[in-house]
Amino acid sequence: MTALPIITAPDPRLKIKARPVAAADDDVRQLMDDMLETMRKAIGIGLAAPQIGVAKRVIVVDVAREGEKPQPMMIANPEILWRSPELTTFSEGCLSLPEHYADVTRPEKIRLRYLDYQNELREIEASGLLATCIQHEIDHLDGILFVDHISTVKRGMILRKLAKAKRTRNLVAA
Ligand code: NI
Repeated sequence: MTALPIITAPDPRLKIKARPVAAADDDVRQLMDDMLETMRKAIGIGLAAPQIGVAKRVIVVDVAREGEKPQPMMIANPEILWRSPELTTFSEGCLSLPEHYADVTRPEKIRLRYLDYQNELREIEASGLLATCIQHEIDHLDGILFVDHISTVKRGMILRKLAKAKRTRNLVAA
């Protein structure tokens, strides 16, 4: 398992639409393992393959709290079959938008179909933080960031700050 660098916004690689995998084979399992390691090292609760520059429909999620038993989920080709009419709001962050948070409202429950680590087709229901996290990660597979769900003004402010932080970092590195 290798922790890989995470791409931060603004970056065109975060805006692409990722492609489904043919199966959860050894290559995809390797990708899932690396993604889990990358997510854990960055202290995140979810990561999508495009965030490490891989345009495949693969996400990893673990919403267990600190001190709780880890509950990693490795998910390929996720498909939301149902969304509850009830909505919920969480303050969301993203490893690709470091240090920025905003309230995002999404369906409170979802029914999800996906291929797991063993290439088994599974269907689950998720609610609360897990449902929000899965929806956030699936958005990444379609080139959508959490800031795309908030006001244009707030989005512009966050992206400008990130772009400026990137330029400053580059100058320091140069
Ligand atoms: Ni994210």
